[in-house]
Amino acid sequence: MKSSNKNDGSGEKPILIFPGGMPRSLEYLQKCLHEGQAVIGASSLALDASREKYPAWLSLPFVTQPEFNEALKQAISEFNIEEIYSPNPVVWDYLNRALNELAPGVTLVNGSPVNVELSGYRAARSHADRLRNKPLPLASNVAATPSMSAIELAALFRHADVIPGMCDHEKFCVLCEIARRSPAGDVVEIGSWWGKSAFILARLARCYAIGKLLCVDPWSNAHLVQNDETGMVDIASAQMDAEEALAIFEMNLLPYNANQVNYLRMPSTDGAQHYRAHRDVTTASFGTTRYEGEIAILHIDGNHSYAAAKADISAWGGLVVAGGWIVVDDYIWPYGDGPQRVGDEFLAEHQDKIDVAFVMGSALFLQLSSPLSKD
Ligand SMILES: C[S@@+](CC[C@H](N)C(=O)[O-])C[C@H]1O[C@@H](n2cnc3c(N)ncnc32)[C@H](O)[C@@H]1O
Repeated sequence: MKSSNKNDGSGEKPILIFPGGMPRSLEYLQKCLHEGQAVIGASSLALDASREKYPAWLSLPFVTQPEFNEALKQAISEFNIEEIYSPNPVVWDYLNRALNELAPGVTLVNGSPVNVELSGYRAARSHADRLRNKPLPLASNVAATPSMSAIELAALFRHADVIPGMCDHEKFCVLCEIARRSPAGDVVEIGSWWGKSAFILARLARCYAIGKLLCVDPWSNAHLVQNDETGMVDIASAQMDAEEALAIFEMNLLPYNANQVNYLRMPSTDGAQHYRAHRDVTTASFGTTRYEGEIAILHIDGNHSYAAAKADISAWGGLVVAGGWIVVDDYIWPYGDGPQRVGDEFLAEHQDKIDVAFVMGSALFLQLSSPLSKD
């Protein structure tokens, strides 16, 4: 046992992490090390592979053994421990009940592990219930199909939540609602990155039998340059790895793919040419997917420079069917006004073909009453 944390008068008070080998324990260890917090790991296993990861280590009997209490008390006194982290529900629950008597003043730093693990699921269920009980009132001429079940909607919220990305909660809820008022056709997303909104669109397209999802994104660092007003976005984007982003997109979407998701790795204007000329899209990871060639929902979330956003809507807008939706993401964007200018120009130019237009979250939502000209 390394003895640097012993009660030697140094004043250092390590947090005891027990059992030290659980994934949450190792996450917590990293957090402590990062913050310079002294830690000591403990395990009841004779051989615990995680031991090497800890700066200090001790052995404790299993919590069920009669000698556990005495061994813990001794460790607390010897190593000057005042706090304990335990992600094991049984150990946590025992310590939560026994610590006060065993070692007054020593506390658990974490809340109930069961509550911690389930909080994301519980939040997803309450989001789903809220949306089902109080659907957003959309003035669409297309009658809404019945909502997906509470458990399907909760699953959608939960799984979307673990995918990192840029899709705020308001926009998420509106996507759920427009999907209920969508004609059949392809769902096309321009700009997918790690796949958060792509995952949401893919599930909605499947659950409401809209059609298949096609993601168009070059996943290249060169295309991340947006010339935003302050340069802050470009500086942050330059530190991203586009190759890795595509791998993450695939990891996020593949488990849910049943031949209804695919992607074109190219800029949106090239993607539009491909889409107009071919029905099939083939990639090594998703196989071959056959599309309809007509778009029910077009989600524009690519490069936000004015020129790029204008090119996106010009190349793809004409392929959206009557009753179909165009979503211009980041219509409200703190770094520039490209999407807003493009959205406003589109509204002014095509008002006779737009049934519904509103902004929610940061996105502009448009429903077409009739298609634009195809070219
Ligand atoms: C804001 S991110 C997309 C976020 C994503 N929709 C989400 O839910 O997290 C913008 C994406 O646009 C892509 N992009 C940049 N230029 C593009 C272009 N010309 N055509 C299509 N996508 C483009 C970038 O590679 C990046 O993945």
